[in-house]
Amino acid sequence: MNILVTGGAGYIGSHTCVELLGEGFEVVVLDNLCNSSEESLERVEKITGKKLKFYKGDILDTEFLDRVFTENKIDGVIHFAGLKAVGESVKLPLMYYQNNVEGTVKLCLAMQKHGVKNIVFSSSATVYGKNEPPLSEKLPTGDCSNPYGRTKYFIEEILKDIYVSDNEWNIVLLRYFNPIGAHESGLIGEDPNGIPNNLMPYISQVAIGKLPKLNIFGNDYDTPDGTCIRDYIHVVDLAKGHIKAIEKVFEGCGIKTYNLGTGKGYSVMDIVNAFEESTGLKLNYEFAPRRAGDLPSVYSDPSLAEKELDWTAKYSIADMCRDTWNWQSKNPKGYKK
Ligand code: NAD
Ligand code: UD1
Repeated sequence: MNILVTGGAGYIGSHTCVELLGEGFEVVVLDNLCNSSEESLERVEKITGKKLKFYKGDILDTEFLDRVFTENKIDGVIHFAGLKAVGESVKLPLMYYQNNVEGTVKLCLAMQKHGVKNIVFSSSATVYGKNEPPLSEKLPTGDCSNPYGRTKYFIEEILKDIYVSDNEWNIVLLRYFNPIGAHESGLIGEDPNGIPNNLMPYISQVAIGKLPKLNIFGNDYDTPDGTCIRDYIHVVDLAKGHIKAIEKVFEGCGIKTYNLGTGKGYSVMDIVNAFEESTGLKLNYEFAPRRAGDLPSVYSDPSLAEKELDWTAKYSIADMCRDTWNWQSKNPKGYKK
């Protein structure tokens, strides 16, 4: 089977390429490298000892998409390509709607034209908005607090409409919780541009001395230690979930939605403590005001993916911290030389 991986040079995409190649899939990556480096793909080949095909280009470019689908017999698409910085999406909503929503529409048009009707889409737990955890797939969605989140919600709805119009499509919507960690080789990992917005890359850059201290956004939430609770999931577990999802698609699943999370919630302080414990390092941190838009507690009900995909997350928080630090300490500048 030949899988087109859009955004395959990015953080989750590169880890998924490792799993796909390991499972014997042929991989074609399409990425404009706006938030990644081709180096990640060279490292994917190094880890797996296998080759993949790379096209540098944009999902907004219809002619380019046409060329990729013409030159390759694609059986299914895993669609990661998208912009993901929440704060930036508030400042530049049109860029987010164009890149994520219009980009997905163009991708689906190209798929339709070439008779490819199998897709796995990277959605996010953010579509659940303010629902009370544990968050199950049955809950209503769409009450998102920012344009980035709304692009995920809109794309889910667009894909549902495509299925209604033509039920030859097989579509899996994956709602990720908080992916962290890195491949155990330390060759690939998360390499954010500029100052990280997310907790784990921020912690690891404090640990490596790139940033002076971690600001913990709020310690007065209604949680056991006052800091926010999230469902952190090892990126390799997440990547393995994509193998199960694309297999489900090839079985002819119609349209399905699954959470990819561990079902366990950890607070910001739990993560700081676990990072210190598994690395032996001391983190410089202080409490800071709450960050706008943060919810006190977000974690999944992962039982549907367990039941229907035969998938559960295996790695612990200690594993996630160890592997993050292994990647960061071996690559202090990320993919930059
Ligand atoms: P990432 O930025 O590392 O990867 C996204 C990739 O898409 C990048 O390599 C980027 O260059 C590429 N890209 C962006 N726009 C493109 C375009 N128009 N054409 C071609 N390539 C384009 O991000 P990630 O963390 O690997 O996330 C992958 C997907 O998962 C995204 O859609 C993201 O919204 C979603 N997601 C991520 C998280 C998370 O916490 N990392 C959580 C939920 C959902
Ligand atoms: C954020 C986004 C979410 C997006 C996800 C992945 C918001 C409100 N939510 O999720 O839409 O899908 O990233 O890109 O931005 N924290 C600190 N200090 C920091 C960074 C984070 O204390 O320097 C805290 C946050 O307040 C939060 C927790 O750590 O409580 C996790 O934050 P983060 O990694 O940004 O993930 P989310 O907020 O869950």
